[in-house]
Amino acid sequence: MPVAIITGASKGLGRALAEALAARGWDLVLDARGAGALEEAAGAVTRHGTRVTALPGRVTDGTHRAELVAAAWRLGGVDLVVSNASALGAEPLVPLAELPPAGLRRALEVNVVAALGLVQEALPLLLASPAGAVITVSSDAAAEAYGTWGGYGASKAALDQLAAVLGVEEPGLRVWAVDPGDMATDLYAAAVPGDDGPRPAPAAVVPAFLRLLDERPASGRYAAPSLLEGR
Ligand SMILES: NC(=O)c1ccc[n+]([C@@H]2O[C@H](COP(=O)([O-])OP(=O)(O)OC[C@H]3O[C@@H](n4cnc5c(N)ncnc54)[C@H](OP(=O)(O)O)[C@@H]3O)[C@@H](O)[C@H]2O)c1
Repeated sequence: MPVAIITGASKGLGRALAEALAARGWDLVLDARGAGALEEAAGAVTRHGTRVTALPGRVTDGTHRAELVAAAWRLGGVDLVVSNASALGAEPLVPLAELPPAGLRRALEVNVVAALGLVQEALPLLLASPAGAVITVSSDAAAEAYGTWGGYGASKAALDQLAAVLGVEEPGLRVWAVDPGDMATDLYAAAVPGDDGPRPAPAAVVPAFLRLLDERPASGRYAAPSLLEGR
């Protein structure tokens, strides 16, 4: 069975992806900081009969990242890394004039540095896979200038560029940056409290990610709406 490491898998998009991959027979290594919610998510996934290792920890912790990869190795290797865990830098979001430098550093550390660290740790196993792939979860805010989304957006733009260059440097891998579009999750609620407008549930976006895995298009940046066309 193929093996995926998914960060930030206790809720939201990460959990929805884990459930969908498990239903397709993938074995999984899942992470999040909160042990209780992660355990619960892992239990739901295990109902599909998949093998799942849930490791609570912070993606910014190099030892934890090494443990994630070691757990995947014990399941047979690493076929997919999904860098999904994310930090906003300020909750709620604030204009750049008010963004604490520590908040920007945190967004960069979680969204960019940790994502690269995990890929570096997993790279030998990814390259040994017959279908190794990396998915970095991007955002519209990486490409558009939305007020208050500047720090987070800058971190996602940096992540997009890492993914683009990795795709060039590692032609044996597929590296896809995916903008999922707005979703009704805790992250969005923390970013813009009180903005209760209709947004899709994360599960509605998952078919976009599955299409990438099914069709294995060239490495590059993809937006969920175009991937969902015809699905
Ligand atoms: N929601 C949207 O509208 C939207 C739009 C565009 C892009 N995105 C992107 O989609 C991805 C998923 O976001 P979401 O909306 O599904 O968020 P979410 O529901 O808040 O889930 C975030 C997950 O990441 C975990 N996490 C956060 N910080 C972590 C850390 N330092 N180490 C390990 N795990 C950590 C959280 O668990 P713990 O808190 O327990 O650690 C949780 O499992 C993110 O990359 C986000 O930037 C979201």
